[in-house]
Amino acid sequence: MFELGLRNDVYRRPLATALDRLGLREGWVCADIGAGGGDVTVALAELVGRDGRVYAVDADPAARDATAEAAALAGTAQVLTVTQAAEDLLLPEQLDLAFCRFLLLHVVDPGRVLRRMAGAVRPGGWVVAQEAITSAGRVGGAALSMPDARHPDIGALLPALVRDAGLDVVDAWAEAPAGVGPGPVTAYLASLTGVDPGEDPVVLPPLVTVVARRPTARPGPAA
Ligand SMILES: C[S@@+](CC[C@H](N)C(=O)[O-])C[C@H]1O[C@@H](n2cnc3c(N)ncnc32)[C@H](O)[C@@H]1O
Repeated sequence: MFELGLRNDVYRRPLATALDRLGLREGWVCADIGAGGGDVTVALAELVGRDGRVYAVDADPAARDATAEAAALAGTAQVLTVTQAAEDLLLPEQLDLAFCRFLLLHVVDPGRVLRRMAGAVRPGGWVVAQEAITSAGRVGGAALSMPDARHPDIGALLPALVRDAGLDVVDAWAEAPAGVGPGPVTAYLASLTGVDPGEDPVVLPPLVTVVARRPTARPGPAA
């Protein structure tokens, strides 16, 4: 497992932009789906404060423990960890925000997960998904690959997948951290691939962010 804090560091701009874009506020009820070590969960919990709640959902029970520890270390209240497959997402209350990052590339049916996320938010609530286009990353000019992922380039399809889940796409963009030599970008790539790129220039896989809303009401068919 690679260092999650490092991931938040190199991909912090798209995360910050997305959270800013939807106007996340104190008191919101959020879920971080495929929460992993809970980096984003903790960031969300700090923003929603004591009156809000963040469900950290992951299929792996080890993630539950890692997230609970990260939340305790950060001193954040109102983090609830749930061991659940995203395909079966079912939470005890409607959400203001359902979020996922680097999840859909691993699941069998990304469309189903997005539909569950869409169904978990209140009408007018938000869904934010951040997924990579792995093969668009470059090391020394050569393309990256991620053979273990089911859908390594799912970021390229993300806006359409989100729309097809019944959501209104409000904003979408791609952003790729880049660097050369010692620094977080090189360190992140080395932790991800096990190979130190040395002095080769690195462009990490662009992360496609889609910010979407559940429609409040659909116009009925014309009479
Ligand atoms: C690459 S990690 C991403 C962690 C975190 N979202 C982040 O950006 O740092 C992917 C996480 O998704 C979880 N996961 C994979 N398939 C899942 C599924 N079908 N349902 C729920 N979680 C799943 C894994 O257990 C893992 O913790």
